[in-house]
Amino acid sequence: MDKKKISELIAQLSLEEKASLCSGHDFWHTKEIERLEIPAVMMCDGPHGLRKQVGEGDHLGINVSIETTCYPTAAALAASFDRKVMEKLGTALGRECQAENVAMLLGPGLNMKRSPLCGRNFEYFSEDPYLAGEMGVAYIQSLQAEGISACVKHFAANNQETARMSGSSQMDERTLQEIYLPAFEAAVKKGGTRSVMCAYNAINGIFAAENKELLTDTLRERWGYDGFVVTDWGAVKDRVKGLVAGLDLEMPGGIGVQDDQIVAAVKDGTLDEAVLNKAVTHMLEFVADYQEQRKPETSIDRAANSILSADLAAQCAVLLKNTDNTLPLKEEENIVFIGEFAQRPRYQGAGSSHINVTHAIGALEAAVGKNVTYAQGYDVHSEENDAGLLDEAVNAAKKAEKVVVFAGLPDSFETEGCDRDTLAIPDNQNNLISAVAAVNPNTIIVLHGGAAMELPWLDEVKSVLCVYLGGENIGTATVKLLYGETNPSGKLAETWPIKLADNPSYLNFPGENGIVDYAEGIFIGYRYYDKKQMEVLFPFGYGLSYTSFSYSDLHLDKEAIQDTDILMVNCKIKNTGSVAGREAVQLYVRDEISSVRRPVRELKGFEKVELEPGEEKTITFPLDKRSFAYYETAIHDWFVESGKFFVEIGASSRDIRLSAEVEVTGTIELPMHYTKQSTVGDLMKTAKGRKFMENMMAKRQRHSSEAAADSAQNMGEGSEKMVQKMMIEMPLGALVTYGSMTFEQLDDLLKMLNS
Ligand code: GLC
Repeated sequence: MDKKKISELIAQLSLEEKASLCSGHDFWHTKEIERLEIPAVMMCDGPHGLRKQVGEGDHLGINVSIETTCYPTAAALAASFDRKVMEKLGTALGRECQAENVAMLLGPGLNMKRSPLCGRNFEYFSEDPYLAGEMGVAYIQSLQAEGISACVKHFAANNQETARMSGSSQMDERTLQEIYLPAFEAAVKKGGTRSVMCAYNAINGIFAAENKELLTDTLRERWGYDGFVVTDWGAVKDRVKGLVAGLDLEMPGGIGVQDDQIVAAVKDGTLDEAVLNKAVTHMLEFVADYQEQRKPETSIDRAANSILSADLAAQCAVLLKNTDNTLPLKEEENIVFIGEFAQRPRYQGAGSSHINVTHAIGALEAAVGKNVTYAQGYDVHSEENDAGLLDEAVNAAKKAEKVVVFAGLPDSFETEGCDRDTLAIPDNQNNLISAVAAVNPNTIIVLHGGAAMELPWLDEVKSVLCVYLGGENIGTATVKLLYGETNPSGKLAETWPIKLADNPSYLNFPGENGIVDYAEGIFIGYRYYDKKQMEVLFPFGYGLSYTSFSYSDLHLDKEAIQDTDILMVNCKIKNTGSVAGREAVQLYVRDEISSVRRPVRELKGFEKVELEPGEEKTITFPLDKRSFAYYETAIHDWFVESGKFFVEIGASSRDIRLSAEVEVTGTIELPMHYTKQSTVGDLMKTAKGRKFMENMMAKRQRHSSEAAADSAQNMGEGSEKMVQKMMIEMPLGALVTYGSMTFEQLDDLLKMLNS
């Protein structure tokens, strides 16, 4: 199908045929129109493996799918802080899709981790929109370079599983635009995603599947998106309203009742056929793109992909604790692996992303040939203590030099479709860990799970390595990390709070009667914990290494910039330890003084750098307007408020190593409409207002300098501050009451200011 001939094709399609193209043929295919040689194409889940079903389709991972490779899930991948990890994944997945003739992969998931309880957090990258956006862009670009469409999801504000198909995420404009949309915005503007999947839920009462503000005004008009929009499976509400709002394709297909509604709406004049033609154009462009980039000869090497999965997982794991350098293990040490996850690791999540794996490799299998014994320790399908298993594990621990307990969240604790109700891991695992640590001080914990967990035994153990959900070959990666063949280099892409009640959404999760109040606003994740100066278990961006790094020589190429400039930031990182390692260097921006509430600092850059012992490298970060801006609702856009900013380089959000000031001048004046209720402080926000105030103050100064001198003498401590504050908050109308001006002068002033 020639993309340039799509308008001719549309002219040849009947109304019924056009309507039929706006829904799928079945669970996974678009419709074909044989007489015009329009083929059906296939789309499948994602995001961290190809879930292709050739038989009965489903969207919950219940029916079988073909055997493919399962890679680390998003929660793990984000912890790599490495765009190259995402690029390798996207390339491998793109080739698998070509080999299996799948035109689109449903991923990546770009929803923010608002609460650590969300059941699908394992499929999402972070609590930070910049990190999530950058990782998503790298995945999209490499996947699409293989001729396969990405499909970023779930657009937007799908941050929980509870009532996901009926609930409404309620938030103010700034919160939506500054936290919940930017990762999607990056996916469109920087990633060039060819498809967007709208979420099940509503945003401020309007379902995503028929939300024009979201699907057209924001997505297409403001961001310039020219791909197509597909529903989440079963998300459509009113098909015609959806089309008008910007929804192109309804999935799953195969029923077609909604197609008839489209035909009827065009016939009775309630739907402009041009709207239908636009949706059909988007669909046909998607099919034509795939035909153009089809590489049927692509073959895949499953064994190589399984090794790749292990290599990627090894870059994601986060070393959370390592007292007395208990890790890495030595080959000669007598080790016991305890816990069913050592044999049968939890390496992916349940639901639509569930990959049918030929063979998952656990740490025990990967450790064959090493000085390692095993004890099951617990039954992963139960939360009850098993006395026999516990005794066996404690006895084994007594005999070993070091103990590695494999623990974390079972499938029953976190899954698509329902949210967690606790941050705890199963009690029988907690009891096992304490019992083992009581008899062997050299106890190490390997954690599997898709999001933050509570670790009540943290002070009882020497080391903790979090491998998240690390894909089918997590065992190989874990053994390499435990024995130091690979140096852990992951850093947390989400804050781990000390307890569930500390988290910012706690009072408003999962909402009531389907209404979810995002009352914490922009203050999610570290933005919240930092602002509240709260202790956390592990901060955003935190992760240890078997080596150490020094940070130095922070240099900004300008001391002062306008918000239209690019600021180049350089710094040096040196490996000051004795083994090679990688460091995820983070750049944060802090707005020292702001007229609006802002987080203490925000991530605006990161680079993963690999260093041999003693090696030093310079890293460069370009900062642009969005590095300093906040979303200003008065102009419905991003805005930089002039003032002093700090550029900070950190090993984590709470381990800032370098800092430098930069003066930034905003080039946009906020539109102000002044009234008698506007305050003197409001006047100071515009040049005209400032000029007027300066003149007025100068005049007052000349007439009453003596009186001012006396009153200054009489005023007590702090009165000056009180007068200043009262002045700033003085409504302009009160200036007349206090005799500073007449009503006529005030009217003239308002006319001048609003002209
Ligand atoms: C599911 C998920 C979505 C998935 C789709 C198809 O309900 O929400 O992520 O891609 O349906 O399985």
